Amino acid sequence: MTILGIESSCDECSISIVEDGKKVLSEALFSQIDLHKPFSGVVPEISARNHVVTVLPLLEKVSMLFPLKNVDAFAASIGPGLIGSLIIGSMTARSLAYALKKPFIPVDHIEAHLYSPHLVNEIPFPHLALLCSGGHTLIVLVKSFVEYKILGTTIDDAVGEAFDKVAKMLDLGYPGGPIIDRISIDGNENFWDLPIGLSDDQKTDRYNFSYSGLKTAVFYKLRELDRDIPKADICASFQKSAITSLLRKLKNASVDSKIKTIIVVGGVAANSLLRKSLELWSKEGFEIYNTPLDLCGDNASMVAGRAYVNLNFGENKTSALTYARYPLIRKGQRL
Ligand code: KG4
Ligand code: ZN
Repeated sequence: MTILGIESSCDECSISIVEDGKKVLSEALFSQIDLHKPFSGVVPEISARNHVVTVLPLLEKVSMLFPLKNVDAFAASIGPGLIGSLIIGSMTARSLAYALKKPFIPVDHIEAHLYSPHLVNEIPFPHLALLCSGGHTLIVLVKSFVEYKILGTTIDDAVGEAFDKVAKMLDLGYPGGPIIDRISIDGNENFWDLPIGLSDDQKTDRYNFSYSGLKTAVFYKLRELDRDIPKADICASFQKSAITSLLRKLKNASVDSKIKTIIVVGGVAANSLLRKSLELWSKEGFEIYNTPLDLCGDNASMVAGRAYVNLNFGENKTSALTYARYPLIRKGQRL
């Protein structure tokens, strides 16, 4: 079965045709990063308007390798994300489904990220997922493709958001994550001793994250410095705290649940310190599935892959994600 997926929840417009949830047959992506750079963050209006301009040329591109008439179903991210942007991808996929008399499959963007390493690996259940992106920081117990339990989440900023905001304070550009990752290589991670998220003392916080304290600490420490700002050292110190927090909470969840199979997904899953640290875990008996770099950020292959699951394994039984947030969709009033 071939499914065409569209991803347009934020600053990537992407279309991909995937066979049986595994094999990418044709894909195209336009990143809007350069358009948002002057604003050091994504501007929703610019994002939506640009998706309008790019979605059809991308569709033409993917259909050159695989004709649309041979597609069995059409899918799109329907949330969470920027509503104006989501509507472009969703309505494009719905229109194609309508015109070609094929099903339209709504896909939760978070569930799509959770699916991303499954595109390239057979991953046993149950497993733990660390989902770290610009908008979310979650530890999820994945019992099956349709049964999840969210064990922990951020109580304030998402980890990617913290990377982006610290990069903005240091005037490094957007998006901050990859820039901080790169600059940190030459920095001293012990330059500053920065706070590491929530303490584990409270049982309820064993899996939860907090990044606003870390961000504020960088802000105030920066004000104490003179003109000579050692950006590499600051980046390395910040990155160490941000990633240590992810690893610590993930370890808590693994120890408590006794689940050692772990997937890491979302934009921040591309972080080199996180990936290196988890490689060491592999040597301690953990089964780590890092998402391939090209599938960490937003992409349509994960949407088409997840749509295959929705179609073949049914809806998310626990209502932990999609249908909890979109009750109207359950009644058929899809976006
Ligand atoms: O998953 P994603 O593409 O979009 C969302 O759904 O949010 O994640 C984007 C986030 C941005 O905050 C970006 O700075 C961060 O992922 N990111 C990174 C790295 N590459 C991207 N953060 C840390 N290290 C990286 N190498
Ligand atoms: Zn995302």
